[in-house]
Amino acid sequence: CGIVGIVGTEFTVGELIDDLQKLEYRGYDSAGVAFLSTEKVNIKKSIGRISNLRKIVEPDLFSNIGIAHTRWATHGAPNDINAHPHSDCTGNIAIVHNGIIENYAELREILIKNGHTIKSDTDTEVIAHLIEENYEGDLYSAVLKSVKKLKGAYAIAVMHKAHPETLIAARKGSPLVVGKANDKTILASDITPIIKYTKDVVFLEDGDIAILKGNDIRITDVNGNIVLRKTIHITWDESSAEKGGYKHFMIKEIYEEPEAIESALVGRIKLEGPFLKEIEEFNLETINKIKVVACGTSYHAALVFKYFLEKHINIDVEVDVASEFRYRNVYIDDNTAVIAISQSGETADTLESVRVVKRKGAKVIAITNVVGSTITRESDATIYMNAGPEIGVAATKTYINQLVVLYLLGMSILKKRNVWSENLEKDLNFLKNSPDIFRKMFETIDLKELISYYKNFNHFMYIGRGINYPTALEGALKLKEISYINATAYPAGELKHGPIALLDPTFPVFAIAPKDSLYEKMKSNIEESKARKARIIAITTEGNKEISSIADDVIFVPESPEDMYPLVIAPIIQIFAYFVADMKGYDPDKPRNLAKSVTVE
Ligand code: G6P
Repeated sequence: CGIVGIVGTEFTVGELIDDLQKLEYRGYDSAGVAFLSTEKVNIKKSIGRISNLRKIVEPDLFSNIGIAHTRWATHGAPNDINAHPHSDCTGNIAIVHNGIIENYAELREILIKNGHTIKSDTDTEVIAHLIEENYEGDLYSAVLKSVKKLKGAYAIAVMHKAHPETLIAARKGSPLVVGKANDKTILASDITPIIKYTKDVVFLEDGDIAILKGNDIRITDVNGNIVLRKTIHITWDESSAEKGGYKHFMIKEIYEEPEAIESALVGRIKLEGPFLKEIEEFNLETINKIKVVACGTSYHAALVFKYFLEKHINIDVEVDVASEFRYRNVYIDDNTAVIAISQSGETADTLESVRVVKRKGAKVIAITNVVGSTITRESDATIYMNAGPEIGVAATKTYINQLVVLYLLGMSILKKRNVWSENLEKDLNFLKNSPDIFRKMFETIDLKELISYYKNFNHFMYIGRGINYPTALEGALKLKEISYINATAYPAGELKHGPIALLDPTFPVFAIAPKDSLYEKMKSNIEESKARKARIIAITTEGNKEISSIADDVIFVPESPEDMYPLVIAPIIQIFAYFVADMKGYDPDKPRNLAKSVTVE
């Protein structure tokens, strides 16, 4: 979910909703707004996108205080009643919330016994009534008392009719940022709505309660003691968070990949080789086990890292999805390092995995794109991906930058351990030149004709081997998440153990088959698929002519060092998925049922 709140000099409800719009990528099941006007708390909310909300509000109404919410449903189906903001029995309080209150059923029961009428199925409405119970004329104290009773995760913003100048915000487990402009203060789930007001922001920490009044922000802990938080200067400008002429954020973000890579490389390749100052204090010279934990696309980047590092050195690299990892009995010893990868830095399962291994004494290196995100505070070191804001729900340029950063990390480990070779030197050179390689590739690539044919299929099988197997996984994920086509991925050698039974002329095979040391094996798997009359799209290396005789369609990528094919092939599978979704009339920026940042388990 995304929340935003403003207090200070007058603004219009339309402006508040414009700010909320910047957070729509965080969820779009329903949207709502609360503001003070004609001396009462007005709440407007609607199922669906923010555009539905706009239809039921008067955008020119002025207010001095307002909160807004765009929802990704957790407790309670997406509908008008469950949409935020929620209120109490008196209608004086309005609250928006991101997170999950684990003990809400218990609290709900007590509140009902105490005479409260609770209208929705949400955990959030319970908080509104709890604040009502605790309210004795001071909103801050009421919120303070109430949050002490909450178990679970929350970022909340609360307003009260009797306090037209004060917004109270509280955070535990879900992100919340505050900033002050000349004449107002603003809070939001992330910086995107704030940067138009100010570039100096404060990331609230767990247990923080903030009082926003005029252009003043005071932060306390749950015991009411003032706490000081660092102000962070953000360099992103507002326009970098806009679509910049492209039809969708997703395609804009794919075409931003060359610049994104450049930003990821800045200061990280020295004359002597790769250099990541962030890991200088880690004992990476002595470890013999690395555990990598991540979700979704980040998990696929982690797999590439495993193939890369294990090829060059005898270190066990174990990769797991965070939702499994956190519940496993993971063995950590002094020779183990943990890497947690999360583009958003807020994925609940990944954060919990970090906490689990930290309790076991592990040192954690986080890789994220979001400055000040929760993972950065909970890990021992953070390597930023520096991809700039990514608004499209499907990860594109952040995947590329995850790969870049992971290659750099792998190379730094190899360098530190004196495992360096001519091949690694070539890899590093390729990395340096990759922005230009991408630019050239983008100038010539045109998949539209191919895609207009393939968009009509209902199934796809992605296959790859070795370091290109994760690319098959990512290709299938991209296609299914934005075009709703049933795409599945297998290591090419596994086809014969079951999935090959699916293949027929209606089930195309997308083969990731660059000219590398496993190419001949891939060729056999393509032949096997062909024999089942499946159509074949192959991605291979420029100049590989023979593949045209077995594949129905071929997409070429520049010749690259073997280790680097995941990097050059990634934009192709992204562009393929993007245009399939677009041609089918779907909005690739906001795929159904998905959210960019999943802050619940
Ligand atoms: C969500 C997104 C995916 C993303 C995953 C992990 O499911 O829809 O695109 O890969 O979360 O996100 P993270 O921010 O932790 O990388």
